[in-house]
Amino acid sequence: MSDPAEDPYPALLKSFGLGAEDLAAWQASGLSDDAFVAWLTDRVARRPSGSRARAVYGAEDVHDFARRAILEALELGADDHLLELGCGGGLLLRDALRSGARATGLDHSQEMVDLARERAPGAEVVLGEADRLPFANGMFTAVAMAVVFFFLDDPVRVLQECRRVLGPVGRVAVYTTAPELRGTPAAPEPLASLGHFYTLAELAELADRAGLQDISVRADNGGQLLIARA
Ligand SMILES: C[S@@+](CC[C@H](N)C(=O)[O-])C[C@H]1O[C@@H](n2cnc3c(N)ncnc32)[C@H](O)[C@@H]1O
Repeated sequence: MSDPAEDPYPALLKSFGLGAEDLAAWQASGLSDDAFVAWLTDRVARRPSGSRARAVYGAEDVHDFARRAILEALELGADDHLLELGCGGGLLLRDALRSGARATGLDHSQEMVDLARERAPGAEVVLGEADRLPFANGMFTAVAMAVVFFFLDDPVRVLQECRRVLGPVGRVAVYTTAPELRGTPAAPEPLASLGHFYTLAELAELADRAGLQDISVRADNGGQLLIARA
C-alpha cells in the first residue's frame, strides 16, 4: 500500500472523486509537483478531462440552478441566437434549443466540446478561448456563461468580446460563484485558490468597464447573477 506521506496524490485525487485513470494521467503528464494544483483544477473543472469529468458535466443536475437562472433571465425565443462560453457538457445549449432559439457553444476542452455535441445535437459547438472569440461582430442576440467566469483571468476582456459579438439589442447573463462559497463543496480548496471571486459591486464594475449597459447584479441561490445589455 502507498504511504500518503510519501505519495499524497492518490488521496488528494480521491477527495475529488478521481481515481486510477486520473493518477495515470497525472503521472503521464510529466509535470513537476509544483504544477499539481493547477493540473487538478484543470482536470476537475477549468478544462475538464477524463471519464469522471464527462460523467459530471453530462449529468442532468450539473449546475442546473445556474442554467435555470440564466435561461429565465434571457427569455430566449425563436429569433434568438445564443452563444454560451465554457459550455461544458452542453445541457444549457440543449435547453436553449427547446425555446426555438439557435445555439452555439464554445469551450477550450476538446472533451467538453465532444460531449456538448452529443448532448445538444442541434447546437454548433466549437473549440476556442473565451477571450478570443472566433466569431464576427454582432452575430448573436444573447451570451451566457454558467460557472466559468470564476476561472477567467481577464474578465473585462471576455465581457468586451461578448459585447463585440452581440448585436445592438444583445444581452449577457453570467452566473458565477459567490465569495461566501469559497472553501465549500461548491468551490473547494485548493481549486478555489486559483479562482476569482467578486462582490456584487465588483461584478457590476467589471461589466461597466467592458462597456456593457443596463447592468444588474444579484445574489441568486448561493451564486451571483449578472445581467446586462450590449
Ligand atoms: C466548471 S465547468 C462549467 C461547465 C458548464 N457551463 C456547466 O455549467 O456545467 C467550466 C467550463 O468552462 C470551460 N472554460 C474555462 N475557461 C475557459 C476559457 N477561457 N475559454 C473557454 N472555455 C473555458 C471549461 O473547459 C469547462 O468546460
